[in-house]
Amino acid sequence: MNNQTTATVKRQSLQGQWSTRLAFILAVTGSAVGLGNIWKFPYIAGENGGGAFVLIYLLCVFMVGLPIMMSEILIGRRGRRNPVTTMRIVGEEEGGSRKWALVGIMGIIAGVFILSFYSVIAGWAMSYVFSTAGGSFVDADASQVKSIFDQLSGNWKLSAFWHTIFVVITVAVVAQGVQRGLERLVKILMPALLVLLLVLLVFSMNSGYFGQAVEFMFRPNFSALTPSGVLVALGHAFFTLSLGMGAVMAYGAYLPEGTSIASTSVIVVLADTGIALLAGLIIFPVVFANGLESDAGPGLIFQTLPLAFGQMPGGVFFGTLFFVLLSFAAWTSSIGMIEPAVAWMSESKGIKRGVAAGILGAFTWVIGFGTVFSWNLWQDKTFFQGTFFDNIDYLISNVALPLGGLMITIFAGWVMCRNSTSDELNCGTGQMYKTWRFLARYVAPVAVILVLIEASSGGMVSDFLSKIGD
Ligand code: TRP
Repeated sequence: MNNQTTATVKRQSLQGQWSTRLAFILAVTGSAVGLGNIWKFPYIAGENGGGAFVLIYLLCVFMVGLPIMMSEILIGRRGRRNPVTTMRIVGEEEGGSRKWALVGIMGIIAGVFILSFYSVIAGWAMSYVFSTAGGSFVDADASQVKSIFDQLSGNWKLSAFWHTIFVVITVAVVAQGVQRGLERLVKILMPALLVLLLVLLVFSMNSGYFGQAVEFMFRPNFSALTPSGVLVALGHAFFTLSLGMGAVMAYGAYLPEGTSIASTSVIVVLADTGIALLAGLIIFPVVFANGLESDAGPGLIFQTLPLAFGQMPGGVFFGTLFFVLLSFAAWTSSIGMIEPAVAWMSESKGIKRGVAAGILGAFTWVIGFGTVFSWNLWQDKTFFQGTFFDNIDYLISNVALPLGGLMITIFAGWVMCRNSTSDELNCGTGQMYKTWRFLARYVAPVAVILVLIEASSGGMVSDFLSKIGD
């Protein structure tokens, strides 16, 4: 142990600490598990042909996401400030540049943009609580279910209404500070969500199409995977684990000394991945049983799950509960999106948490209209990747988060010295530490760079690999 560095470096968080390790795990899991797992993963897996995509996604989660999650937490705990200040001071301490603060700034901007579309989709989920409870889906067929979705997404006022409510409830919690309420909420909600997903899994297993769904999700067919699909898989690994934008770093700032970062990260990653795979195993049997398209896009869960609820015994109850829990899962995620920005505004700019949350919420709310309009007023205004929503989603998940993650892993692997990282990971310099450092220094950066080259060049890397293979 290097006492000299530890003595000068150990700082206290300015906004309190997590009461226990469990509280931290719950908070990070609460941020990770959300619409990304249940709404986004199934539809992007569907759009990108299933198996091969899922395989690449899993590789990205464990080889890139896991080491970067550990890096974010360790940097956060080292700096004990909001991501901007943390990157600046740790950067300086480690003999690097103050400019590392830019990574934090980029993350803050990314967070606001993520929330802008996230709240629109979460708004849909909230509105589905009421349509399901009101019995709209009982015995409905696929076209009725689709038309209910179209009536919601196609009606900008209705979408905007739910979007507004979601932004308000997010801002309300963030304004209160990190700990209050949240820990207890996640402790009940996450297990409840898991149990409900298992109930739905039983339904899907009995649908007669479970085998087809398993095959779709787990038999890799690489001809169905495009170079940009590989980038979508990588981007989603960041998105679903809340990485690349300082959210986990902000949470790490409140982590007590001595808590194991490695085991905490492994638990979060396993829980997050498990829930995404479960969601897929629930949704695809419904897709195949009803002759639906697996590449229906962002409306996929809203057009498939209600069909299942309409057919299963107790469907009104389970369906309503499902959308309640999904809305809560979205809510515990949304909080983390603006936490870095609020922490920064309150620590560095002296703005009160409540005011900071309000300002950010207002920004997000306005930007969110671009997503609201993507299914109605602006649905034909397409450019670059498609609608306004498609572009924001692409720029954030597939560009900003991977770049942020790349900087973070370079910072933890190359800028920070061995002493600091092994001290912060509290795992000595044994095999575990070596593995992390190897992944953080080589595997993660190289993977991100290769995937970015692959996607922007339309397949250069895979062409090259297949030439070597021949
Ligand atoms: N991980 C969240 C989900 O899967 C979404 C998300 C992305 C997020 N970045 C974040 C949540 C930052 C909190 C903080 O739904």
